[in-house]
Amino acid sequence: MKVTVFGIGYVGLVQAAVMADFGHEVMCVDVDQSKVDNLKKGIIPIYEPGLTPLVETNYKEGRLHFTTNAKEGVEFGELQFIAVGTPPDEDGSADLKYVLAVARTIAEHMNGYKVVLDKSTVPVGTADKVNAAIAEVLEQRGVDYDYAVVSNPEFLKEGAAVNDCMRPDRIVIGTDDDTARQLIRELYAPFNRNHDRMIFMDVHSAELTKYAANCMLATKISFMNEMSNLAERLGADIEKVRQGIGSDPRIGYHFIYPGCGYGGSCFPKDVQALVRTADSIGYESTLLKAVEQVNYAQKEVLFKRLNEYYKGDLAGKTVAIWGLSFKPNTDDMREASSRVLMESLWQAGAKVRAFDPEAMEEVQRIYGTREDLELVGTKDAALKGADCLVICTEWKVFRAANFDDIKEQLVDPVIFDGRNLYEPEQVKRYGLAYYAMGRGDSI
Ligand code: UGA
Repeated sequence: MKVTVFGIGYVGLVQAAVMADFGHEVMCVDVDQSKVDNLKKGIIPIYEPGLTPLVETNYKEGRLHFTTNAKEGVEFGELQFIAVGTPPDEDGSADLKYVLAVARTIAEHMNGYKVVLDKSTVPVGTADKVNAAIAEVLEQRGVDYDYAVVSNPEFLKEGAAVNDCMRPDRIVIGTDDDTARQLIRELYAPFNRNHDRMIFMDVHSAELTKYAANCMLATKISFMNEMSNLAERLGADIEKVRQGIGSDPRIGYHFIYPGCGYGGSCFPKDVQALVRTADSIGYESTLLKAVEQVNYAQKEVLFKRLNEYYKGDLAGKTVAIWGLSFKPNTDDMREASSRVLMESLWQAGAKVRAFDPEAMEEVQRIYGTREDLELVGTKDAALKGADCLVICTEWKVFRAANFDDIKEQLVDPVIFDGRNLYEPEQVKRYGLAYYAMGRGDSI
């Protein structure tokens, strides 16, 4: 099938490359000329395991095309994905200006029946707005083409996006248009492995499904973080509690890992957007507001702990940080807990010496060059002469640590672990103080 994808960001590029890999012909359209030029040379704008070879192969084999020419893009595919960004507005609601601009562009060049699929995470009611935007432009043009606007939310996890896209556990499709349904069935047929992954529903339900999924996961995390704070104060071990509750299949083991707060481009933005949507229809979402509040507080826990340990005197200290990205296997720093920690440390007059396997370039881009930030090439280099060690992201390379060496390198033999990587008893045997999340020894 011929498919067009508007927006070569994270979502659009992964979706396009995977569809091409399954044999479809895919045209990617973006307004950014340099991005398009780079992609043709095999330079990928994001770090995502497995994506570069997928893009390169499918581009070389002629199934994946890149262009800035919107007309060419619209005329190319009967199916048109909108996968542009929806950054939060000042009040936290999703900003639809890019989505609606693409809708108008599609309408400007429409030359026959088109299925327009919303892939961007958009609030309930967006498909109606996309519909209206297209109708308006068609009316101005004085043409009357048939089209369907479909909600097809994505459920990819950064760092595992290629695999998630190739082997989805569900493909949610919101439409009431029969022709669209048939075309979409054909598009996604190669994604159905042993059983049908497609779940058809009305447009509003599909739009809400995306938010409900992310908000549910964010709720699980905030719940566990609250339990972890309670465990600390009650002399319980949250890791034991986690195993104790996860073994109940109704609760399950997924997404009940306590930590230093959730980050990324999705959970914080989506929880906030659903709170705003609820507000806008006069419904106060007490639960989601609490989820957000718990998360804000959780991101401050590491700094508070350090501050207490050093009795409010962090000025002049050098803090080693392992892991900066919002989670492992990505260079994404959006809403990362490490940012809250670093910014608080700087405010308190401390220096940061950090290592992250992928995110350091991004950190440099965000914070520029500053005296109180040193980015080093290895986890060991981060320790040298630092006062203490903090772990913000659970990259695999941190899982096995040389505790003798850590103790020798640090001025104070203490680890603050925001991700519960080690067994407290084991670390303490090496003569290190170890403050994890919800595992006793709270300061
Ligand atoms: C999330 C969802 O998991 C995807 O299903 C969804 O498609 C995506 O958002 C999206 O809307 O695009 P992602 O933001 O890539 O994916 O990352 P997650 O793996 O979900 O992690 C989010 C944050 O939660 C991270 O900061 C992570 O450290 C934290 N987390 C996760 C915990 O603190 N505890 C857990 O048990 C799990």
